[in-house]
Amino acid sequence: MDQPRQLIDKLEETSRLTKEEWIVLIGGQNEDLAQYLFEKARRLQTQYFGNRIYIRGLIEFTNYCKNDCYYCGIRRSNRQTERYRLTKEQIMECCKDGYRLGFRTFVLQGGEDGCFTQEKLEDLVYTIKADYPDCAITLSLGERSKESYEGLFRAGADRYLLRHETADEAHYQTLHPKELSVKKRKQCLWDLKKIGYQTGTGFMVGSPGQTPEHLAKDLLFIRELEPHMVGIGPFIPHHETPFAGEPGGTVEQTLFLIGLLRVMLPKLLLPATTALGTIDPRGREKGILAGANVVMPNLSPTSVRKKYELYDNKICTGDEAAECRSCLNRRMEKIGYRLVIDRGDYGVKCLED
Ligand code: SAM
Ligand code: FES
Repeated sequence: MDQPRQLIDKLEETSRLTKEEWIVLIGGQNEDLAQYLFEKARRLQTQYFGNRIYIRGLIEFTNYCKNDCYYCGIRRSNRQTERYRLTKEQIMECCKDGYRLGFRTFVLQGGEDGCFTQEKLEDLVYTIKADYPDCAITLSLGERSKESYEGLFRAGADRYLLRHETADEAHYQTLHPKELSVKKRKQCLWDLKKIGYQTGTGFMVGSPGQTPEHLAKDLLFIRELEPHMVGIGPFIPHHETPFAGEPGGTVEQTLFLIGLLRVMLPKLLLPATTALGTIDPRGREKGILAGANVVMPNLSPTSVRKKYELYDNKICTGDEAAECRSCLNRRMEKIGYRLVIDRGDYGVKCLED
Protein backbone atom coordinates (compact mmCIF):
# COMPACT_ATOMS: atom_id res chain seq x y z
CA MET A 1 0.00 0.00 0.00
CA ASP A 2 1.27 3.49 -0.89
CA GLN A 3 2.31 6.01 1.76
CA PRO A 4 -0.02 8.97 2.43
CA ARG A 5 2.16 11.42 0.43
CA GLN A 6 2.12 9.15 -2.59
CA LEU A 7 -1.62 8.87 -2.22
CA ILE A 8 -1.94 12.66 -2.42
CA ASP A 9 0.14 12.58 -5.62
CA LYS A 10 -2.05 9.81 -6.97
CA LEU A 11 -5.17 11.77 -6.09
CA GLU A 12 -3.86 14.75 -8.04
CA GLU A 13 -2.97 12.62 -11.06
CA THR A 14 -6.04 10.44 -11.26
CA SER A 15 -8.64 12.22 -9.10
CA ARG A 16 -9.60 8.85 -7.64
CA LEU A 17 -8.62 6.67 -4.69
CA THR A 18 -10.06 3.39 -3.48
CA LYS A 19 -11.88 3.25 -0.17
CA GLU A 20 -8.87 1.56 1.45
CA GLU A 21 -6.54 4.24 0.11
CA TRP A 22 -8.79 7.00 1.43
CA ILE A 23 -8.76 5.39 4.86
CA VAL A 24 -4.94 5.27 4.87
CA LEU A 25 -4.70 8.88 3.71
CA ILE A 26 -7.25 10.20 6.21
CA GLY A 27 -5.68 8.14 9.00
CA GLY A 28 -2.22 9.45 8.08
CA GLN A 29 -3.12 13.06 8.76
CA ASN A 30 -0.36 14.97 10.56
CA GLU A 31 1.14 18.43 10.31
CA ASP A 32 3.78 17.60 7.69
CA LEU A 33 1.33 15.77 5.49
CA ALA A 34 -1.16 18.63 5.85
CA GLN A 35 1.44 21.18 4.69
CA TYR A 36 2.28 18.98 1.70
CA LEU A 37 -1.44 18.74 0.86
CA PHE A 38 -2.19 22.46 1.33
CA GLU A 39 0.66 23.50 -0.98
CA LYS A 40 -0.79 21.34 -3.72
CA ALA A 41 -4.32 22.54 -2.97
CA ARG A 42 -3.23 26.20 -3.13
CA ARG A 43 -1.42 25.62 -6.40
CA LEU A 44 -4.63 24.29 -7.94
CA GLN A 45 -6.75 27.01 -6.33
CA THR A 46 -4.44 29.68 -7.81
CA GLN A 47 -4.40 27.99 -11.19
CA TYR A 48 -8.21 28.10 -11.45
CA PHE A 49 -9.17 31.16 -9.41
CA GLY A 50 -6.04 33.30 -8.98
CA ASN A 51 -6.33 35.12 -5.65
CA ARG A 52 -10.08 35.68 -6.09
CA ILE A 53 -12.54 34.71 -3.40
CA TYR A 54 -16.24 34.55 -4.24
CA ILE A 55 -18.79 35.91 -1.78
CA ARG A 56 -22.34 34.66 -1.20
CA GLY A 57 -24.88 36.61 0.82
CA LEU A 58 -26.63 34.25 3.18
CA ILE A 59 -30.27 35.02 4.04
CA GLU A 60 -31.55 32.77 6.82
CA PHE A 61 -35.22 33.39 6.17
CA THR A 62 -36.95 30.92 8.49
CA ASN A 63 -35.91 28.86 11.49
CA TYR A 64 -39.11 26.79 11.56
CA CYS A 65 -38.37 23.20 10.65
CA LYS A 66 -40.44 20.02 10.54
CA ASN A 67 -37.32 17.89 10.91
CA ASP A 68 -35.63 16.77 14.07
CA CYS A 69 -32.01 16.12 13.11
CA TYR A 70 -30.18 15.24 16.30
CA TYR A 71 -27.28 17.66 15.72
CA CYS A 72 -29.23 20.75 14.70
CA GLY A 73 -30.00 23.68 16.99
CA ILE A 74 -33.22 24.61 15.14
CA ARG A 75 -34.65 21.06 15.14
CA ARG A 76 -38.35 20.98 15.84
CA SER A 77 -37.95 19.54 19.36
CA ASN A 78 -35.93 22.51 20.53
CA ARG A 79 -38.62 24.45 22.38
CA GLN A 80 -36.13 27.05 23.60
CA THR A 81 -35.59 28.55 20.16
CA GLU A 82 -37.71 31.57 19.40
CA ARG A 83 -39.09 30.92 15.93
CA TYR A 84 -39.21 33.52 13.14
CA ARG A 85 -40.00 33.92 9.47
CA LEU A 86 -38.85 36.84 7.37
CA THR A 87 -41.51 38.51 5.22
CA LYS A 88 -41.01 38.88 1.49
CA GLU A 89 -40.35 42.59 2.09
CA GLN A 90 -37.65 41.82 4.65
CA ILE A 91 -36.00 39.34 2.29
CA MET A 92 -36.07 41.90 -0.54
CA GLU A 93 -34.50 44.41 1.83
CA CYS A 94 -31.65 41.94 2.54
CA CYS A 95 -31.09 41.57 -1.21
CA LYS A 96 -31.06 45.34 -1.65
CA ASP A 97 -28.42 45.77 1.06
CA GLY A 98 -26.48 42.84 -0.32
CA TYR A 99 -26.48 44.14 -3.88
CA ARG A 100 -25.20 47.51 -2.69
CA LEU A 101 -22.39 45.74 -0.84
CA GLY A 102 -21.30 43.89 -3.98
CA PHE A 103 -23.03 40.53 -3.53
CA ARG A 104 -24.07 38.86 -6.79
CA THR A 105 -25.27 35.61 -5.22
CA PHE A 106 -28.06 35.37 -2.67
CA VAL A 107 -28.41 32.16 -0.70
CA LEU A 108 -31.88 31.57 0.70
CA GLN A 109 -31.53 29.11 3.53
CA GLY A 110 -34.04 27.85 6.04
CA GLY A 111 -35.53 24.95 7.92
CA GLU A 112 -38.13 22.83 6.13
CA ASP A 113 -41.01 25.20 6.75
CA GLY A 114 -44.34 24.33 5.12
CA CYS A 115 -45.58 27.90 5.53
CA PHE A 116 -43.37 28.82 2.62
CA THR A 117 -45.47 26.99 0.04
CA GLN A 118 -44.23 26.13 -3.42
CA GLU A 119 -46.17 29.11 -4.77
CA LYS A 120 -44.66 31.53 -2.23
CA LEU A 121 -41.15 30.23 -2.85
CA GLU A 122 -41.49 30.45 -6.62
CA ASP A 123 -42.84 33.97 -6.29
CA LEU A 124 -39.91 34.92 -4.07
CA VAL A 125 -37.33 33.49 -6.47
CA TYR A 126 -39.06 35.11 -9.43
CA THR A 127 -39.20 38.52 -7.75
CA ILE A 128 -35.54 38.47 -6.68
CA LYS A 129 -34.52 37.42 -10.18
CA ALA A 130 -36.66 40.15 -11.77
CA ASP A 131 -35.12 42.83 -9.54
CA TYR A 132 -31.56 41.50 -9.76
CA PRO A 133 -31.20 39.75 -13.13
CA ASP A 134 -27.41 39.80 -12.87
CA CYS A 135 -27.44 37.81 -9.62
CA ALA A 136 -27.49 34.08 -8.95
CA ILE A 137 -29.96 32.56 -6.51
CA THR A 138 -28.93 29.60 -4.41
CA LEU A 139 -31.56 27.69 -2.47
CA SER A 140 -30.95 25.62 0.64
CA LEU A 141 -34.39 24.41 1.69
CA GLY A 142 -33.80 20.75 2.38
CA GLU A 143 -35.50 17.76 0.78
CA ARG A 144 -38.33 18.42 -1.68
CA SER A 145 -39.94 16.53 -4.56
CA LYS A 146 -38.39 16.57 -8.01
CA GLU A 147 -41.40 18.54 -9.26
CA SER A 148 -40.84 21.17 -6.60
CA TYR A 149 -37.15 21.48 -7.49
CA GLU A 150 -38.15 21.78 -11.16
CA GLY A 151 -40.66 24.55 -10.41
CA LEU A 152 -38.11 26.54 -8.43
CA PHE A 153 -35.55 26.10 -11.19
CA ARG A 154 -38.06 27.40 -13.75
CA ALA A 155 -38.77 30.36 -11.47
CA GLY A 156 -35.10 31.31 -11.75
CA ALA A 157 -33.10 29.51 -9.04
CA ASP A 158 -29.58 28.69 -10.22
CA ARG A 159 -28.05 26.61 -7.47
CA TYR A 160 -29.08 24.31 -4.63
CA LEU A 161 -27.22 23.31 -1.48
CA LEU A 162 -28.16 20.06 0.24
CA ARG A 163 -25.48 18.36 2.27
CA HIS A 164 -25.66 14.58 2.23
CA GLU A 165 -24.34 14.75 5.86
CA THR A 166 -22.85 11.24 5.74
CA ALA A 167 -22.81 8.73 2.91
CA ASP A 168 -22.96 5.75 5.27
CA GLU A 169 -26.47 4.49 5.85
CA ALA A 170 -25.99 3.23 9.42
CA HIS A 171 -24.18 6.43 10.40
CA TYR A 172 -26.93 8.50 8.80
CA GLN A 173 -29.49 6.74 10.99
CA THR A 174 -27.56 7.62 14.15
CA LEU A 175 -27.69 11.33 13.22
CA HIS A 176 -31.34 11.52 12.08
CA PRO A 177 -34.76 10.27 13.10
CA LYS A 178 -36.01 7.24 11.23
CA GLU A 179 -38.21 9.13 8.77
CA LEU A 180 -35.08 10.51 7.09
CA SER A 181 -32.83 8.32 4.95
CA VAL A 182 -29.57 8.75 3.10
CA LYS A 183 -31.14 7.07 0.07
CA LYS A 184 -33.73 9.84 -0.23
CA ARG A 185 -31.09 12.51 0.35
CA LYS A 186 -28.84 11.15 -2.38
CA GLN A 187 -31.81 10.85 -4.73
CA CYS A 188 -32.58 14.55 -4.15
CA LEU A 189 -28.99 15.39 -5.07
CA TRP A 190 -29.14 13.37 -8.29
CA ASP A 191 -32.47 15.03 -9.14
CA LEU A 192 -31.04 18.49 -8.55
CA LYS A 193 -28.08 17.79 -10.80
CA LYS A 194 -30.26 16.35 -13.53
CA ILE A 195 -32.56 19.38 -13.49
CA GLY A 196 -29.57 21.61 -14.15
CA TYR A 197 -28.87 23.24 -10.80
CA GLN A 198 -25.30 23.95 -9.84
CA THR A 199 -25.49 21.48 -7.01
CA GLY A 200 -23.77 21.48 -3.66
CA THR A 201 -23.41 18.67 -1.17
CA GLY A 202 -21.28 18.31 1.95
CA PHE A 203 -21.02 17.00 5.48
CA MET A 204 -20.00 17.88 9.00
CA VAL A 205 -16.49 16.94 10.03
CA GLY A 206 -16.34 15.13 13.37
CA SER A 207 -20.06 14.41 13.62
CA PRO A 208 -20.78 11.97 16.47
CA GLY A 209 -19.63 8.45 15.63
CA GLN A 210 -17.83 9.47 12.42
CA THR A 211 -14.90 7.20 11.48
CA PRO A 212 -12.23 7.40 8.75
CA GLU A 213 -14.25 4.81 6.86
CA HIS A 214 -17.31 7.07 6.91
CA LEU A 215 -15.21 9.94 5.59
CA ALA A 216 -13.79 7.67 2.89
CA LYS A 217 -17.36 6.89 1.83
CA ASP A 218 -18.19 10.62 1.81
CA LEU A 219 -15.30 11.31 -0.54
CA LEU A 220 -16.23 8.39 -2.80
CA PHE A 221 -19.81 9.62 -2.97
CA ILE A 222 -18.68 13.15 -3.79
CA ARG A 223 -16.40 11.83 -6.54
CA GLU A 224 -19.32 9.90 -7.98
CA LEU A 225 -21.80 12.79 -7.78
CA GLU A 226 -19.32 15.36 -9.08
CA PRO A 227 -21.09 18.29 -7.48
CA HIS A 228 -20.27 21.91 -8.28
CA MET A 229 -20.00 22.92 -4.63
CA VAL A 230 -19.09 21.13 -1.40
CA GLY A 231 -19.78 22.69 1.97
CA ILE A 232 -17.95 21.15 4.89
CA GLY A 233 -17.54 22.49 8.39
CA PRO A 234 -16.84 21.06 11.82
CA PHE A 235 -19.71 19.60 13.82
CA ILE A 236 -20.25 21.92 16.79
CA PRO A 237 -22.54 20.76 19.61
CA HIS A 238 -25.66 22.75 20.44
CA HIS A 239 -26.69 22.70 24.10
CA GLU A 240 -30.39 22.00 23.38
CA THR A 241 -29.87 18.88 21.24
CA PRO A 242 -29.30 15.18 22.00
CA PHE A 243 -25.65 15.73 20.99
CA ALA A 244 -25.05 18.50 23.51
CA GLY A 245 -22.34 16.53 25.31
CA GLU A 246 -20.55 15.20 22.22
CA PRO A 247 -17.11 16.48 21.22
CA GLY A 248 -16.99 18.80 18.22
CA GLY A 249 -14.98 18.39 15.02
CA THR A 250 -11.44 19.80 14.87
CA VAL A 251 -9.96 22.62 12.82
CA GLU A 252 -7.12 20.39 11.66
CA GLN A 253 -9.33 17.65 10.29
CA THR A 254 -11.68 20.11 8.60
CA LEU A 255 -8.76 21.85 6.87
CA PHE A 256 -7.28 18.52 5.82
CA LEU A 257 -10.56 17.53 4.17
CA ILE A 258 -10.86 20.90 2.43
CA GLY A 259 -7.39 20.29 0.98
CA LEU A 260 -8.33 16.78 -0.16
CA LEU A 261 -11.48 18.05 -1.86
CA ARG A 262 -9.56 20.77 -3.74
CA VAL A 263 -7.03 18.22 -5.00
CA MET A 264 -9.72 15.68 -5.95
CA LEU A 265 -11.98 18.15 -7.79
CA PRO A 266 -9.88 21.28 -8.50
CA LYS A 267 -12.70 23.43 -9.93
CA LEU A 268 -15.00 22.99 -6.93
CA LEU A 269 -16.69 25.95 -5.28
CA LEU A 270 -15.54 25.31 -1.74
CA PRO A 271 -16.53 27.62 1.12
CA ALA A 272 -14.53 28.40 4.22
CA THR A 273 -17.58 28.08 6.45
CA THR A 274 -18.89 30.09 9.39
CA ALA A 275 -18.64 26.94 11.53
CA LEU A 276 -14.89 26.86 10.81
CA GLY A 277 -14.68 30.52 11.80
CA THR A 278 -16.58 29.70 14.98
CA ILE A 279 -14.13 27.12 16.35
CA ASP A 280 -11.04 29.13 15.39
CA PRO A 281 -10.81 32.93 15.19
CA ARG A 282 -8.74 32.55 12.00
CA GLY A 283 -10.67 29.53 10.77
CA ARG A 284 -11.90 31.10 7.56
CA GLU A 285 -8.44 32.37 6.60
CA LYS A 286 -7.01 28.93 7.34
CA GLY A 287 -9.77 27.40 5.19
CA ILE A 288 -8.77 29.59 2.25
CA LEU A 289 -5.11 28.68 2.74
CA ALA A 290 -6.11 24.99 2.70
CA GLY A 291 -7.83 25.38 -0.68
CA ALA A 292 -11.27 26.96 -0.14
CA ASN A 293 -12.37 29.77 -2.49
CA VAL A 294 -15.75 31.00 -1.21
CA VAL A 295 -17.00 32.83 1.88
CA MET A 296 -20.64 33.24 2.85
CA PRO A 297 -21.23 36.25 5.08
CA ASN A 298 -24.62 36.79 6.62
CA LEU A 299 -27.18 39.21 5.16
CA SER A 300 -30.02 38.33 7.55
CA PRO A 301 -31.35 41.20 9.68
CA THR A 302 -29.40 41.39 12.95
CA SER A 303 -32.70 41.07 14.86
CA VAL A 304 -33.00 37.39 13.84
CA ARG A 305 -29.37 36.31 13.61
CA LYS A 306 -29.16 34.86 17.11
CA LYS A 307 -32.30 32.79 16.48
CA TYR A 308 -30.73 30.85 13.62
CA GLU A 309 -28.31 29.20 15.97
CA LEU A 310 -27.52 25.79 14.49
CA TYR A 311 -24.71 25.32 17.02
CA ASP A 312 -23.39 27.11 20.09
CA ASN A 313 -21.39 30.36 19.88
CA LYS A 314 -22.03 30.96 16.17
CA ILE A 315 -20.01 34.01 15.09
CA CYS A 316 -21.19 37.25 13.45
CA THR A 317 -24.64 37.17 15.06
CA GLY A 318 -24.40 40.81 16.15
CA ASP A 319 -22.85 42.41 13.07
CA GLU A 320 -24.55 44.32 10.28
CA ALA A 321 -24.05 42.93 6.76
CA ALA A 322 -21.73 45.79 5.87
CA GLU A 323 -19.52 45.09 8.89
CA CYS A 324 -19.27 41.39 7.97
CA ARG A 325 -18.38 42.30 4.42
CA SER A 326 -15.59 44.69 5.36
CA CYS A 327 -14.29 42.43 8.13
CA LEU A 328 -13.95 39.58 5.64
CA ASN A 329 -12.39 41.90 3.10
CA ARG A 330 -9.68 42.81 5.59
CA ARG A 331 -9.15 39.21 6.60
CA MET A 332 -8.74 38.06 3.00
CA GLU A 333 -6.43 40.91 2.03
CA LYS A 334 -4.19 40.12 4.97
CA ILE A 335 -3.52 36.67 3.51
CA GLY A 336 -3.11 37.88 -0.07
CA TYR A 337 -6.60 37.22 -1.44
CA ARG A 338 -9.42 39.55 -2.51
CA LEU A 339 -13.21 39.37 -2.53
CA VAL A 340 -14.70 39.87 -5.99
CA ILE A 341 -18.00 41.29 -7.23
CA ASP A 342 -19.07 38.37 -9.35
CA ARG A 343 -21.73 35.66 -9.48
CA GLY A 344 -18.94 33.13 -9.17
CA ASP A 345 -20.54 30.39 -11.24
CA TYR A 346 -18.99 26.97 -11.51
CA GLY A 347 -16.58 26.68 -14.40
CA VAL A 348 -17.08 30.26 -15.61
CA LYS A 349 -14.20 32.67 -15.72
CA CYS A 350 -14.51 35.63 -13.37
CA LEU A 351 -15.85 38.76 -15.13
CA GLU A 352 -13.39 40.99 -13.33
CA ASP A 353 -10.53 39.73 -15.52
N1 SAM B 1 -32.85 22.82 5.97
C1 SAM B 1 -31.78 22.90 5.04
C2 SAM B 1 -31.07 21.58 4.94
O1 SAM B 1 -31.38 20.66 5.69
O2 SAM B 1 -30.22 21.46 4.04
C3 SAM B 1 -30.78 24.00 5.36
C4 SAM B 1 -30.50 24.30 6.78
S1 SAM B 1 -29.47 23.13 7.63
C5 SAM B 1 -29.49 23.82 9.25
C6 SAM B 1 -27.85 23.55 6.99
C7 SAM B 1 -26.69 22.72 7.47
O3 SAM B 1 -26.32 23.08 8.79
C8 SAM B 1 -26.88 21.24 7.55
O4 SAM B 1 -26.73 20.64 6.31
C9 SAM B 1 -25.83 20.80 8.59
O5 SAM B 1 -24.72 20.16 7.96
C10 SAM B 1 -25.42 22.10 9.24
N2 SAM B 1 -25.52 21.98 10.72
C11 SAM B 1 -26.63 21.75 11.43
N3 SAM B 1 -26.34 21.61 12.75
C12 SAM B 1 -25.00 21.75 12.86
C13 SAM B 1 -24.09 21.67 13.95
N4 SAM B 1 -24.51 21.42 15.19
N5 SAM B 1 -22.77 21.87 13.70
C14 SAM B 1 -22.35 22.14 12.45
N6 SAM B 1 -23.15 22.21 11.38
C15 SAM B 1 -24.47 22.01 11.58
FE1 FES C 1 -34.22 21.26 10.00
FE2 FES C 1 -31.93 21.58 11.12
S1 FES C 1 -33.46 20.07 11.65
S2 FES C 1 -32.78 22.79 9.59
